[in-house]
Amino acid sequence: MISHFRKPCVIGNWKMQGSREMISNLVSGLSANKNYPEVDIALCPPTLYIERVQAALEDYALQDHFALGAQNVYCESGGAFTGETSPEMLVDMGCRYVIIGHSERRQLFFEDDTLIARKSRAAYHAGLIPILCIGETAAERAAGKTFEIVCRQLQAILEKLPLVALATSIIAYEPVWAIGTGLTATPEQAEAVHASLRDWLGKQDPEIAKKVCILYGGSVKAENADGLFSMPNIDGALVGGASIDAGQFLKICQSAFKCKQI
Ligand code: PGA
Repeated sequence: MISHFRKPCVIGNWKMQGSREMISNLVSGLSANKNYPEVDIALCPPTLYIERVQAALEDYALQDHFALGAQNVYCESGGAFTGETSPEMLVDMGCRYVIIGHSERRQLFFEDDTLIARKSRAAYHAGLIPILCIGETAAERAAGKTFEIVCRQLQAILEKLPLVALATSIIAYEPVWAIGTGLTATPEQAEAVHASLRDWLGKQDPEIAKKVCILYGGSVKAENADGLFSMPNIDGALVGGASIDAGQFLKICQSAFKCKQI
């Protein structure tokens, strides 16, 4: 049994990838799941396909093993916001999670700290579990600013999201230089940031710092998952590329299950 007070968690971020055929194949591959009840696992497909993935999970009786999430959300409940999706709509469609502030949203779609904070609050109030992404660029790391950057990003979210919400939210530390590049932070590099974040939160509220789930993201694969998950402050992973390969994704889930057994 896992006696850890934070349940390990593995989230698959499919990004803008998928098709009806791909969903059938991937979910069929996931049906080899050996059932890891001690790990929270979720799939975040493109919003358009959420219902399709849900149906495929039901076809294989996998809906209790894999939760659903979205990759983005808007901060209003409804109205004249062409092209957007509200948190309430995601809840209505069966989503449990939503990724917020991913570096691709920050860089390619110019999402700033204020918008990300508003989205986080709206998602939380609608009953979703926000996955709050933070991370430094290669230049910021080289300048020794990693911790300053991730704290600033988290602090900006906490301007709008009450600290208490972090106890049931997820932080994803994703160094920008490691996303989709094949360059993974070493377990020690990632652990150093996770531990510093937890310390920093602990100064504000020790109980919340203990409870908040902090995932690592950035080129996580079956081959490097054990090393990362063996670190005490790394509670799981936000997985991009490897999440659309059923075999890889299941191995990462298995690794979380194995490494977090105490
Ligand atoms: P990656 O993506 O695993 O492909 O590096 C991670 C992410 O963007 O969440």
